[in-house]
Amino acid sequence: MSYLRACLLSFCLVPYVQATYDAREATIASTHHSLYTGLATCREVVTSFLSRIESLNNYTNAIISLDPNVLDRADAADVRLAANNASLGALFCIPTFLKDNYDTAALPTTGGNLDLAGSRPSLDAAAVTALKQAGAIILGKSNLHELALEGLSVSSLGGQTINPYDSTRTPGGSSGGTGAAVAASFAVWGTGTDTVNSLRSPASANSLFSCRSTRGLISRNGIIPISYTQDVIGPIARCVEDMAAALTVMASVGYDPSDNTTALVPPSARGVDYTASLTQGSLKGMRFGLLQGFMNTTNSSETTPVNNAMANITTKLLQAGATIVPIHDPLYNATALAALDTQRYEYREQMTTYLQRPSLHGQHPKTLNELYNSSDKFLVIPSQYEYVTTSLASSTSNQTWNTHPSYSSILHGVANLTLALHTTFAANELNAMIYPEQENLVVPIGSASQSGRNGILAALTGSPVVTVPVGFSPATQTAPEGVPIGMEILGLPWTEEGLLQAAFQIQGLGRVRKMPGWAKGVVEMSGDGKVPVVRPDRGNISPAYPVGVL
Ligand SMILES: *[C@@H]1O[C@H](CO)[C@@H](O)[C@H](O)[C@H]1NC(C)=O
Ligand SMILES: *[C@@H]1O[C@H](CO)[C@@H](O)[C@H](O)[C@H]1NC(C)=O
Ligand SMILES: *[C@@H]1O[C@H](CO)[C@@H](O)[C@H](O)[C@H]1NC(C)=O
Ligand SMILES: *[C@@H]1O[C@H](CO)[C@@H](O)[C@H](O)[C@H]1NC(C)=O
Ligand SMILES: *[C@@H]1O[C@H](CO)[C@@H](O)[C@H](O)[C@H]1NC(C)=O
Ligand SMILES: *[C@@H]1O[C@H](CO)[C@@H](O)[C@H](O)[C@H]1NC(C)=O
Ligand SMILES: *[C@@H]1O[C@H](CO)[C@@H](O)[C@H](O)[C@H]1NC(C)=O
Ligand SMILES: *[C@@H]1O[C@H](CO)[C@@H](O)[C@H](O)[C@H]1NC(C)=O
Ligand SMILES: *[C@@H]1O[C@H](CO)[C@@H](O)[C@H](O)[C@H]1NC(C)=O
Ligand SMILES: *[C@@H]1O[C@H](CO)[C@@H](O)[C@H](O)[C@H]1NC(C)=O
Repeated sequence: MSYLRACLLSFCLVPYVQATYDAREATIASTHHSLYTGLATCREVVTSFLSRIESLNNYTNAIISLDPNVLDRADAADVRLAANNASLGALFCIPTFLKDNYDTAALPTTGGNLDLAGSRPSLDAAAVTALKQAGAIILGKSNLHELALEGLSVSSLGGQTINPYDSTRTPGGSSGGTGAAVAASFAVWGTGTDTVNSLRSPASANSLFSCRSTRGLISRNGIIPISYTQDVIGPIARCVEDMAAALTVMASVGYDPSDNTTALVPPSARGVDYTASLTQGSLKGMRFGLLQGFMNTTNSSETTPVNNAMANITTKLLQAGATIVPIHDPLYNATALAALDTQRYEYREQMTTYLQRPSLHGQHPKTLNELYNSSDKFLVIPSQYEYVTTSLASSTSNQTWNTHPSYSSILHGVANLTLALHTTFAANELNAMIYPEQENLVVPIGSASQSGRNGILAALTGSPVVTVPVGFSPATQTAPEGVPIGMEILGLPWTEEGLLQAAFQIQGLGRVRKMPGWAKGVVEMSGDGKVPVVRPDRGNISPAYPVGVL
């Protein structure tokens, strides 16, 4: 993309340093270790990621924009570090990518859409303010499926993001740019949003962890919206510790009058430090409900690897002392549950409200209908998505509509489903439900949709889910490491602490995550110090897991 190229070129003038800091699979802990022991400056940390991006982004096309002032921010961090400032935050100098539907005053916020290329929020999203206060360094914005409406991660502004593990496949989505960027060590971690699957599908397809938190835990103020009922935001990371640290900061916004769902957080879930109790869980005695209806038992090259990985993880959970309770209730059928999707009722009002925020400057359409009127610029035509086409005429209050149930009957169905979910938990004494995020491998580039995903249950009920890597498909010519497979762990509202503890224990059962082969290359300066060069893997990649876990 020429758009990105312009941003990237500004870094060509940066002298490349032979880093003492290894960006590959770096964690918050390993980065802080380097900074606090004087092994690396913040400028060196940030530069090592930027040189990776410049040299390697062509393999995956994950990035939409880079902040041209990021090295100034790194230098400011170095001044604070040198001053031995006691109040360095939990994410001090941690390179971070934001999905390009998070408002930022420093960078355009486009949703990957050409019609929003000139849109300029003058305020940061509430979660972005919290991340900056905690010291995070925002490197830039990652590509997404256009306006976060599907899971293929192709957009009119950012093009197609390529799965880092298989050049013929999509990276999942809609937060696919963040997934690919984090898998390739272009940042330590990144943010996503999730209306149906969008934090979980990229985690699953890129061998990463993500947390879709309970609706209300994190303010959605300043995020390009789709659905009041279903939208949530959250972190995608390479290890549970980093996911927990990022979640803690994002949730620290707390009650925000501009997103009234944040009033729902009970006192026990306010101001929680999710890193504090990570090690205190145990799989022994935990009861996991395995949703049989969320698996495709067909024997095929796309589904069998997923079923094998699920069999593998359930065996490991049993060996660790957990109980697996098979759940056969036909209620848990993702295709049938999709009938309750609220997006077609809520999208128009939500998006038009966003486009009319007084803080949104620059050139941009003022309503969803106006945005779609210029559909010639859309890579993804609206007629491809029935719910988007429908939303142009429908609304939360339009009761004159014959071909779909009324909005109020849908909300009644969602409330009924939520009670049914709680009933399954209570009747089976479950701690959590488990199932594959996607019943088949992530789909090839060019597919019509990201089929086979199971995100709808948590999306409708506002339940928290932690996604964990559980395996890979067999290696092929285009996927030398195999294609990653992820599992969802769904809990009742406000049980994030327990879900993260379970994920931490599962991470400790044995390392599943692998780096994409091409991303193992070491990026360093050429002889003249001007051009970054990629050298093959030296085989000494710093582990994503702190010593002691494995
Ligand atoms: C990416 O760019 C590098 C350096 O120009 C080149 O060696 C490599 O083949 C490219 N990879 C892809 C997938 O285009
Ligand atoms: C130390 O950090 C605090 C909080 O971010 C900031 O207000 C203060 O200016 C910093 N002091 C120095 C010397 O950088
Ligand atoms: C909560 O916020 C939504 C969206 O801003 C609004 O439509 C709804 O009326 C609010 N509900 C209450 C009870 O204030
Ligand atoms: C199950 O997987 C097979 C093989 O990939 C596929 O053809 C079929 O459509 C899938 N069934 C469902 C219900 O998704
Ligand atoms: C699944 O299909 C493969 C390839 O056709 C075959 O070798 C294998 O035996 C089948 N497995 C089962 C359990 O039917
Ligand atoms: C799941 O729901 C779909 C749509 O209602 C239906 O066609 C399908 O038969 C159901 N699957 C099962 C296994 O009942
Ligand atoms: C869409 O474009 C048509 C033709 O230019 C115009 O008549 C109509 O008012 C526009 N609708 C909206 C919602 O902007
Ligand atoms: C309500 O829905 C009908 C049928 O789709 C549509 O013709 C009408 O314009 C809608 N009314 C409003 C106020 O959106
Ligand atoms: C409520 O959920 C139950 C249990 O899944 C189901 O049998 C019933 O049809 C649902 N009722 C409505 C009105 O959706
Ligand atoms: C199952 O787990 C074992 C040991 O952790 C691993 O070697 C194997 O590749 C896994 N199989 C799948 C299908 O994930």
